[in-house]
Amino acid sequence: MTSLSPSELLREAERAAARVATADADTLAALRTELLGRKAGKLTHVLRSLAALPPEERRAVGARANQLKQQVEQAIAAREGELAASAAPGPTMDGTMPGRRVWRGAVHPVTAVVDEICEIFRELGFTRVVGPEVETEDYNFTKLNIALDHPAADAQDTFYLGPRLLLRTHTSPMQAHIMERYPPPIRIVVPGQVYRRDTFDASHSPVFEQIEGLAVDEGISFVDLKATLSHFARRFFAADTAVRFHPSFFPFTEPSAEVDIGCSRQEGELKIGAFGDWLEILGCGMVHPRVLNACGIDPSDYQGFAFGLGVERLAMLKYGIADLRTFFDADLRWLAHYGFPALDIPSLVLGEAR
Ligand code: PHE
Repeated sequence: MTSLSPSELLREAERAAARVATADADTLAALRTELLGRKAGKLTHVLRSLAALPPEERRAVGARANQLKQQVEQAIAAREGELAASAAPGPTMDGTMPGRRVWRGAVHPVTAVVDEICEIFRELGFTRVVGPEVETEDYNFTKLNIALDHPAADAQDTFYLGPRLLLRTHTSPMQAHIMERYPPPIRIVVPGQVYRRDTFDASHSPVFEQIEGLAVDEGISFVDLKATLSHFARRFFAADTAVRFHPSFFPFTEPSAEVDIGCSRQEGELKIGAFGDWLEILGCGMVHPRVLNACGIDPSDYQGFAFGLGVERLAMLKYGIADLRTFFDADLRWLAHYGFPALDIPSLVLGEAR
């Protein structure tokens, strides 16, 4: 290097300086040493050898060398800034590489059971719809023939948000919304969360998932209700599930019933099957004529049946989950055990339901 004259060195330095703006980090470090290095930097060398030059050359080379040194320092700082900014997101990664130790995630059993149940009803021609969780007293109670002094409307059971506004205590208000908006024939299922002032223990929660069902058409009878819900229980649990209807009461259905399935409860273990013991799984009934009237449907032209079921309860029965609270824990180990693969097809009972 020392064999070159100061002007030749300066020209080389200019060529090197031109590469700063596009240098990567390693090249930049090398260029810094090549140009400004304390021992062998080209510009350092030129500046040091100025004293030995004839006066005119000294002035010209000196001015150019000083100017270039300043430019190079600025350009290096600027390039460093650019490189730092583009490196900021961290080490580069290849998104096409297969993952290792990836937890695939799982579908929550409530979501899976909602899908299973809605699928069974979809096969029967029911459409899945959703509705608001914030309701008025009118839709949650009055249009459903529940008097506001009925125990079900009690403020002790209901979360009120305002004078006449509340969190729905069941999915039944959607019966009224749908009947008001769509003419029969109607066949819908409505999954969604409902809210009640309740304790939080192994079998109670102030929030839980319900599915409402509603069919309205000409000449619908209790036979349709029985056949539909028996089919549902056998498709959901097992083709030979024993199903029983017993009378019940709901203000919005007449007559009303509850559906039981056969089970056994020996030594604290619950088994589903025709063992002589019974377990309630849902409430149902023929849509009360007053409800049809309140929603603008003439009960002498159309009849309907409705039902409502608790999803967590059915999920606990079908999949052997002991404690309701675990549904809300968001515990990933629990989800890995009880959850379902994302692309699973709803697990329904195959074969002829009786
Ligand atoms: N809404 C009722 C409940 O929450 C269930 C039900 C729905 C009963 C439709 C009959 C008909 O308990």
